[in-house]
Amino acid sequence: MTDSASPTNTQDWYYPSEDVVSNATVKDYGALYNRSINDPEGFWAEQAETLEWYKKWDKVLDSSRAPFYQWYVGGKTNIVLNALDRHVKTFRRNKLALIWEGEPGDTRTYSYFRLWQEVNKFGSVLRSMGVKKGDRVTIYMGRVPELLIAMMACAKVGAVHSVVYGGFSEQALADRIEDAESRVLITQDGAWLRGQIVDLKKVADEAVKRSPVVEHVIVFKRTGHNVHMEPDRDYWWNDLMALPVASVKCETEMMDAEDPLFILYTSGTTGKPKGILHTHGGYSVYTSTTLKWVFDLKEEDRWWCAADPGWITGHSYIVYGPAILGVTSFMYEGAPTHPYPNRWWKLVEHYGINVLYTAPTAIRGLMRFGSTWPNRHDLSSLRLLGSVGEPINPEAWKWYYEVIGKGRCPIMDTWWQTETGGFMITPMPSVALKPGSATRPFPGIDVDVVDDDGNSVKPGEDGLLVIKKPWPGMLRTVYGDADRYVKQYWSKFKDMYLAGDSARKDEDGYIWVIGRIDDVIKVSGYRLGTAEVESGLVSHPAVAEAAAIGIPDELKGNIIYAYCILRDGQTVTSDLEDKLKEHIRHEVGPIAVPAKIEFVKSLPKTRSGKIMRRVLKARAQGLPEGDISTLEE
Ligand code: WTA
Repeated sequence: MTDSASPTNTQDWYYPSEDVVSNATVKDYGALYNRSINDPEGFWAEQAETLEWYKKWDKVLDSSRAPFYQWYVGGKTNIVLNALDRHVKTFRRNKLALIWEGEPGDTRTYSYFRLWQEVNKFGSVLRSMGVKKGDRVTIYMGRVPELLIAMMACAKVGAVHSVVYGGFSEQALADRIEDAESRVLITQDGAWLRGQIVDLKKVADEAVKRSPVVEHVIVFKRTGHNVHMEPDRDYWWNDLMALPVASVKCETEMMDAEDPLFILYTSGTTGKPKGILHTHGGYSVYTSTTLKWVFDLKEEDRWWCAADPGWITGHSYIVYGPAILGVTSFMYEGAPTHPYPNRWWKLVEHYGINVLYTAPTAIRGLMRFGSTWPNRHDLSSLRLLGSVGEPINPEAWKWYYEVIGKGRCPIMDTWWQTETGGFMITPMPSVALKPGSATRPFPGIDVDVVDDDGNSVKPGEDGLLVIKKPWPGMLRTVYGDADRYVKQYWSKFKDMYLAGDSARKDEDGYIWVIGRIDDVIKVSGYRLGTAEVESGLVSHPAVAEAAAIGIPDELKGNIIYAYCILRDGQTVTSDLEDKLKEHIRHEVGPIAVPAKIEFVKSLPKTRSGKIMRRVLKARAQGLPEGDISTLEE
């Protein structure tokens, strides 16, 4: 990165204008934060009171089985009760819930009433296929309204959805289907991306071949190209929705606050992805409270979270958070640069977007094309901007602030994780900003930076980022692997959540997140485990052993470098690197394809046989290798 974030930049303060402050819902962050931390349970009860419940909770927080914390114990709800059912009884029935534009330029809009109807109909279809409370359903789709409808329909009937990002391929999808034991898979024929069709159905077919648990595949027709439909297994979405069973009468399943809502797989330190589990009650409270205060959404706003619904950002801030608040969301199917690099800015102008939330990698990608493209468009509807996924370098921050926000729109740099359910460290519009810092913890969130023994480090020193109090949006477990949940997050320190990131706090108490401390690489903001890339590589017959590392990159944040040792009898041919890249594209997905694959005779390992990625990383960047006393060679 050309000018990386650092706490020495603290002279760079950006203060919100009087206009912004007077418009902000939270005007005094400090007072709200102190109150929340002095009485977290009272605070979280108060936030839960803003939602509807079939039955209120008996206890806000039960810590008796910590770290298996339970929130709103005894409460009865369903996230859809708050996201849809309650709106159709008010003026919001006629309000736009979703404005959608496809990459080819086709558009669709849904009022809350229409969305509720579609969700009901699809919920009835799922029930008619025998899907019931607690069953898992895997969803593998692109950015289309039907993805949102499918997710909410699952929630409505009490099923647990597991959305797999459309950028993952055969084996990654198959592994996730198997782990969740989903009998039903929902997909689409294809998705539009950069003017081309991404053949989702073909990938789904391959994955289903490898996961015999799947009995039914529901296929939404998006691109209309020819796809194989397996008799008695595959059904067209539209055909099902036209059947009498697709009734608009679909009762919302009454759930316990702690009943599971979804599983979302994310990369960890082993090759097996972790199924992060979230629940109906706490997650409803957390996503809606965070969105309401950080992006200060007003009834008349048009909100655009440009993430993919297949990632946590999309779950929390495209699908559930905005719907609970009754906000109008905008969603765009395709690439930001298609057909020209002004596509996003054209959309902002055309739809009058008020708040835009995206990732540093997207900002850097668009910045590359210069300011002329955004300057052609009237972006004056924008009021607030947001960033998520990785640290934002001050250069990109300033471009976003000056060129897109015209120096009027504060940038909410939100730090959080799949595991946290919602924003954890983030400014609010009334908080003074420093480019590159996610600023201060959200109310109710007790954050610290500590050393290996768990003691707070001094301002300006690097340490481990931890959360010292439970919060309603936290993951409840790793699906099917409670031990892994405890080991991963609660074993280094018994009573503090280990985030897996390193960070610093500056003299003003502002937090600067540096990056991952484990074998997780952030490529274009997407989270990937080195182990996933490595097991993808060794599944190729030519490869005996592999190591993958992340190397800093100006555009993508990080890119992947891989090192391979070939099996005996295999030789390096001129096309082997390309063949292996193609193999990874198929097995894991396009985002996991290494930028470079090098063939080596040995890998630096510790005497206990662990690959020293730190050494590989230093070598790849031509940096000193540091302490190599444990190196086996
Ligand atoms: C990184 C994405 C710095 C961090 C919501 C975290 C960030 C991981 C920021 C989680 C930010 C996310 N500043 N780093 N604003 N936001 N990260 O699970 O390393 O895909 O641990 O969730 O992204 O990635 P995940």
